[in-house]
Amino acid sequence: MIKISKESFGKTSDDTEVMRYTLENGIGMRVCVISLGCAVQSIIVPDKDGALRDVALGYDDADSYEKGSCYFGAFVGRYANRIRGAQFKLNNIIYHLEENDGCNHLHGTFARRVFDAVIRDDAVVFPFVSPPSEEGYPGTLKGEVLYRLTGDNALEIEYFATSDGDTVVNLTNHTYFNLNGHDGSDVLDHTIRLNADRFTPIDASHLTTGDVLSVEGTPLDLRRVKAIGAGISSDHPQIRFASGYDHNLVLNCAAGTLREFALVKSERTGIVLTASTTEPGVQLYTGNFIHEDAPRHGKGGILYPRFAGFCLEAQNYPDAVNHPGFPSPVLRKGEAYHQKTVYKFSLDT
Ligand code: GLA
Repeated sequence: MIKISKESFGKTSDDTEVMRYTLENGIGMRVCVISLGCAVQSIIVPDKDGALRDVALGYDDADSYEKGSCYFGAFVGRYANRIRGAQFKLNNIIYHLEENDGCNHLHGTFARRVFDAVIRDDAVVFPFVSPPSEEGYPGTLKGEVLYRLTGDNALEIEYFATSDGDTVVNLTNHTYFNLNGHDGSDVLDHTIRLNADRFTPIDASHLTTGDVLSVEGTPLDLRRVKAIGAGISSDHPQIRFASGYDHNLVLNCAAGTLREFALVKSERTGIVLTASTTEPGVQLYTGNFIHEDAPRHGKGGILYPRFAGFCLEAQNYPDAVNHPGFPSPVLRKGEAYHQKTVYKFSLDT
């Protein structure tokens, strides 16, 4: 039986009230989601000694979510990651998007919006409508993002959308996990295994080149258990370009069905995260720029260091709108978009 409660999380600068929803499953897992950016604000799970640990990075107040640069826990859309030159062509028309990352477009604007929520059985659901005027994308995108807690310590996130005109869409969640618990440590000691034979390389300005390369012989080869820190310490150009991991890995097994793609562990707490998704790719990001968010502090006054968390942003490939060889992100009028990603927690025994 999942218990869901709600309380105020303060107000934004334009006086809009932000709500916080808490989902509890009665066996120790508790997830908080706020209505600003539909952000996952905390994930509490038991460690190997039975102590409760918050394994998600976040802030204690709405103001930090409004001004912060990290997208902590956020619902990201309409299009996750970077679109080169903030433009793309669809049906022979060039669309110009907001330039919010140099002259590129990064992550859309959902992360900064306050959404209304409905509680549906064991889930908190945020319906959304995104008019074309909002970000420059064609079509009115309507849908919902749903956060469900299960009785076996999994957070399920589902996205549904339709559009009244042809458009492109790529929705994801930007939670930063730290399985040591929320204590200001970094995640370099975590081990990771990721089912991806290929990745989409970036150039020196973090933009996708359009290639799809084998991970073999690169730090992106995470097919066998490896410490996150071991890969980050490499002087491979891909790691240097991003100052750590900030790459889209092409997941093995056909997209469209839910399949497990990553296993991450903390030796210290025994907490294990298993991630599954319906998406073709995942952006593995190791919080390479988190320290630039200072002097803003995280929850409990903690100043997050570089690499304080890792994200597994299940998604279509970055900039797929501009690369015909990538899986199509086009959502035709009347078609249904659906993505599901599950983050399940267990203990290493
Ligand atoms: C994504 C990007 C990173 C960075 C973060 C937000 O993961 O790939 O380069 O912009 O979002 O800080």
